[in-house]
Amino acid sequence: MKLTETVLSIKKLSKTFGRIKAVDELSFDVKRASIYGILGPNGSGKTTTLGITLGIINADQGSYSWFNNHNSKLNRKKIGAILEQPLFYPYLSARKNLEIFADIKDVNYDNIEKVLKDVNLYERRKDKFKTFSFGMKQRLALAGALLSNPEVLLLDEPTNGLDPQGIMETRELLKKINSKGVTIILSSHLLDEVQKICTDVIVINKGKKVASGNVNEVLSETSVIELRSDDLQKLYEAIVNYNKIKSAVIETDKVVIKTHNNIEASEINNYLFSKGITLNHLSIKKKNLEKYFLEQLSNNN
Ligand SMILES: Nc1ncnc2c1ncn2[C@@H]1O[C@H](COP(=O)(O)OP(=O)(O)O)[C@@H](O)[C@H]1O
Ligand SMILES: [Mg+2]
Repeated sequence: MKLTETVLSIKKLSKTFGRIKAVDELSFDVKRASIYGILGPNGSGKTTTLGITLGIINADQGSYSWFNNHNSKLNRKKIGAILEQPLFYPYLSARKNLEIFADIKDVNYDNIEKVLKDVNLYERRKDKFKTFSFGMKQRLALAGALLSNPEVLLLDEPTNGLDPQGIMETRELLKKINSKGVTIILSSHLLDEVQKICTDVIVINKGKKVASGNVNEVLSETSVIELRSDDLQKLYEAIVNYNKIKSAVIETDKVVIKTHNNIEASEINNYLFSKGITLNHLSIKKKNLEKYFLEQLSNNN
């Protein structure tokens, strides 16, 4: 098993509903063993994208491939998915419901006890579904998705509707499942959620990619700061060695730096002053995805 192996590759996928472009030339790759987040406000095309990759919705354009092949029947068995809340029988026990689930999915019952333990429902296996809390119902759905020992779990907004305790449990559960090598692809409209669970992320809006990559890199608050002084070369040499700086480049009449964290302008000023440099210009141009994202959310709701 190669670590860099791609389990899902999506290329220029598009889907239009009437006049709405739900997915717009979307491309991304998901690496094996990652927890990949599709982050976007309501209506940004998350469910449509997941639906296409499961063959539930037909794309207008573009392509996708699972495990670098096009054997959809074989692939389907390697993917556990929860796109919509599965229908369970309220008067049957958790265990009986999973047996029915296994029958539908054409997998044997060998795994039932294991998946019940995996989602912390083993003690409640004999209880009727209708006595379960919302969080427990969600976990039973997860157990159902795990029945076939999938290589990939595909989850549409897995923490939606859960209380803080349920969200935390789901997060820990998904991390545990992932630690056993299962790739997880999930959608979310919550930046915070993706930051806490995912290793990689694609941020989408109106079906289009806004940003993608390693979750810390994409979602961190990288500040871009422009600096000017009379002696640019001297300024550059002083700042490039400053330990709070990620990178520095000279651009015609200014030095542009990127910093790791939120750094105060005064800190930079003081540091440079201590090196004998007086700035005549400092401007912070923040690339703050969180702010961007919150704006998008408030526009959409
Ligand atoms: N079956 C459908 N018919 C018409 N419009 C749809 C349909 N499904 C989704 N849409 C529209 O496509 C856009 C993307 O929807 P969706 O993929 O559900 O977004 P998300 O899951 O990010 O909330 C929205 O504008 C939604 O209203
Ligand atoms: Mg959705």
